[in-house]
Amino acid sequence: MNDPVETSRSGSTATETVETELTGLLRGVIDPELGDNIVDLGMLRSVRIDGGRAVARVALTTAGCPLRSSLQNEITSRLMSHPEVSDVVIEWDELDQAERSRVMERARAHAREGAAPTAVPTRTVVLAVASGKGGVGKSSVTVNLAAELARRGRVVGVLDADIWGFSVPRMLGVDERLEARANPDADGRPLISPARIPVGDGELRVVSTGLLVETEGTALMWRGLMLAKALEQFLNDVDWSGIDHLLIDMPPGTGDVQMALARILPQARMIVVTTPALAAQKVAVRVADMARRSHMPIVGVIENMSAFVAPDGSRHPLFGEGGGEALAGEIGVPLLGSIPLEPAVSAGGDSGEPVVLFSDSPATKVVRQIVDRLESEIVPDSEMIGCTARLLQAVEAALDEAPG
Ligand SMILES: Nc1ncnc2c1ncn2[C@@H]1O[C@H](COP(=O)(O)OP(=O)(O)OP(=O)(O)O)[C@@H](O)[C@H]1O
Ligand SMILES: [Mg+2]
Repeated sequence: MNDPVETSRSGSTATETVETELTGLLRGVIDPELGDNIVDLGMLRSVRIDGGRAVARVALTTAGCPLRSSLQNEITSRLMSHPEVSDVVIEWDELDQAERSRVMERARAHAREGAAPTAVPTRTVVLAVASGKGGVGKSSVTVNLAAELARRGRVVGVLDADIWGFSVPRMLGVDERLEARANPDADGRPLISPARIPVGDGELRVVSTGLLVETEGTALMWRGLMLAKALEQFLNDVDWSGIDHLLIDMPPGTGDVQMALARILPQARMIVVTTPALAAQKVAVRVADMARRSHMPIVGVIENMSAFVAPDGSRHPLFGEGGGEALAGEIGVPLLGSIPLEPAVSAGGDSGEPVVLFSDSPATKVVRQIVDRLESEIVPDSEMIGCTARLLQAVEAALDEAPG
């Protein structure tokens, strides 16, 4: 404290210079899952030099991040390359919820810049309907959200990404075979035309392997096909021009398809469907892992098969209660709504007419509330491109200024 001002000043300047250089070196450390460097992602909390020892404090998306050891090697070797460093210590930390969202937004902006254009218009709102477990009502939720959006006048693409477990054709009552037509907007390249179903003032445009193969049985032939590759084809080789929304009925599982979707369509956002009964914590781990690996933002949770409401108004929670709320709380996103168990929902699925189109039942009311919310809260990513571009410029300027 009583050191002469001059000494302290020159001492701290030298240290600061080294620390700035070390930060510059760590800009070479890329988080492979997020596709950007740990400094710009905000994962480097600090780097200090103390004698010859460099101490880096690095926050991971989750404490148990499987990339930890490869990041550790990379950080250590980069820091050791600095002449002032003889020893490296890494202190691990975990990003909090807000930081995690920022990191993912940054990674998405980066992916948006790098993604090749697809047949999906950039202003399209893309919602992937997923779950941590099968049979919870993903397909029913997908077709009802889509039908309600179309009823309100939107043109809604419905992509059944459940390549061999497809159920969208049955639920929407389509059985035509899809054809490919030369498309002038795609350099004359033939694109598959989706099945068109007029609904109210809007339209559904549906694609599913169920509309490509001869019978439900021949879908087995698709087993050899890589799921992620099939999804890529559906996004690139289908004429999606003119759609306002694209709803994707995701296959069960946490793997390749989610990651492929995030890579091909970085504007995709995820809606998670759960039942009231599921052990929220278990599902949350799977869902959080899915979101982390694909760095897809989660819009919210929809609880399905919630308490049956009898005509006299009494409630019967046949599958338990509270699963949606618990899952939403666990992963830190809103509960968008709870769709009750209702015979009309499954009847609609079997007859090919989603319940929202023929009934004002309690389930329909909830779907409408959810769509109100989606319409008011979700802005197409293209409307954010302006600020993204500015953000990227700022990052680039910072990179230019960084030494080494
Ligand atoms: N709210 C509801 N009320 C009554 N029945 C429902 C409800 N939601 C879904 N069902 C029925 O439950 C069954 C499973 O629903 P659905 O096929 O939508 O689930 P999924 O999550 O897509 O399943 P999978 O994992 O096999 O793709 C269907 O028979 C459907 O009609
Ligand atoms: Mg399904």
